[in-house]
Amino acid sequence: MGEDRGLLPDGVSGPADLVDRLAGVGYLADTGLATAAYLALRLHRPLFCEGEAGVGKTELAKALAALLGAPLIRLQCYEGIDASQALYDWDFPRQLLHLRAAEAAGATDADALESELYSRRFLLARPLLAALETTPSVLLVDEVDRADDEFEAFLLEVLSEYAVTVPELGTLRAAVPPVVVITSNRTRDVHDALKRRCYYHWLDHPDFEREVAIVRLRVPEASARLAGQVTAAAHALRGADLVKPPGIAETVDWVRALAALGAVGLDPGLAAATLGAVVKYREDAERVRALDVGALVARAVAGS
Ligand SMILES: Nc1ncnc2c1ncn2[C@@H]1O[C@H](COP(=O)(O)OP(=O)(O)O)[C@@H](O)[C@H]1O
Ligand SMILES: [Mg+2]
Repeated sequence: MGEDRGLLPDGVSGPADLVDRLAGVGYLADTGLATAAYLALRLHRPLFCEGEAGVGKTELAKALAALLGAPLIRLQCYEGIDASQALYDWDFPRQLLHLRAAEAAGATDADALESELYSRRFLLARPLLAALETTPSVLLVDEVDRADDEFEAFLLEVLSEYAVTVPELGTLRAAVPPVVVITSNRTRDVHDALKRRCYYHWLDHPDFEREVAIVRLRVPEASARLAGQVTAAAHALRGADLVKPPGIAETVDWVRALAALGAVGLDPGLAAATLGAVVKYREDAERVRALDVGALVARAVAGS
C-alpha cells in the first residue's frame, strides 16, 4: 500500500511544492501558510484561518480549489444563520407541483405519495450538504465569527461526522469529505472545540516583498517603482492605528487607481488625491490627514 497522501495533489511532496502550485494559480503564500495548508490536506483536517480583513483568507480557499481542480462551495456566515440555511431545505414549490400532478393523475396511495414528496429529488442542498455530496470539493465556511455559538456547535457536528441526517431521508454521508477552509476575521473568539477539530493558522499582513509581488501580479501595468512605493505607504498606514487598516485588496486598488491616472511613482499630492482607494472610513481619512499624508508618504517612499 502506498503512503496516505490525504487530499494532496500529485507531485506535491512538501510545503515548498505547495508554495509553487499556489503561485501557479496566482496566490503567493509564505512558508507558514503553505505548511498549514499542506498539513491540512495531508492529514485531512479542516484549515482554520484567522486574521484581519484583507490578508488573503478567502482567496486561499479559492486558490486551493483552483489548484485541486475542484469546485469551491462557499458558505458565507452572517448573524442569525441557522442550520437550514447552511444544510438543506425542502423545495416546497416543486413538492406542491408534484402533488397537484399526482392528484390530477388520480394517485390514491397517500403513503407512497408522501415518501415521493420527501425524497432526495425535492431536497435543495445548501452549501454544507452540497459539499458533502460533491467529490472532490473545497468547502469554504467564510467569516464564521459572524455566526453565533449554536451555529458553531452545529458546524462542529457536521465536520466531525461529514454526514447529515435528514429525518425524512436518513443519513447522507460524504463519500470523500471535502477540503474545508474556515475563516474568521476575529470579531469575536471562536470556541476552542471548533478550533481543536481544525489545523489553525493565523494570517498576518504580508511582508513588504511578498505584498509587492502580489501587487505586481494583480496590476501588471503598474511600474515596479509605483508598486513598491504604494506598498510602503500602505504598510505605514497599517501602523497608523486606523479603524480599518488597509488590506491587500486596498493596496492593490490603490496601485490600480494610480496606474489608471498614469502615475509611475507616488508623491504626497497624488496620495492625498487617491486616498479613497485605500482609506474607507471618514474617521480614518481625518486621522490620516491629521498625520500628514505628505510626510507619511515621503518617509515611506524614501524607505522603499
Ligand atoms: N497571498 C495572496 N496572493 C495573491 N493575492 C492575494 C493574496 N492574499 C490576498 N490577495 C488579494 O487580496 C484580496 C483580499 O484578500 P481576501 O482573501 O479577500 O482577504 P480576507 O478574506 O482575508 O479578508 C484578494 O482579492 C486577492 O486579490
Ligand atoms: Mg474574506
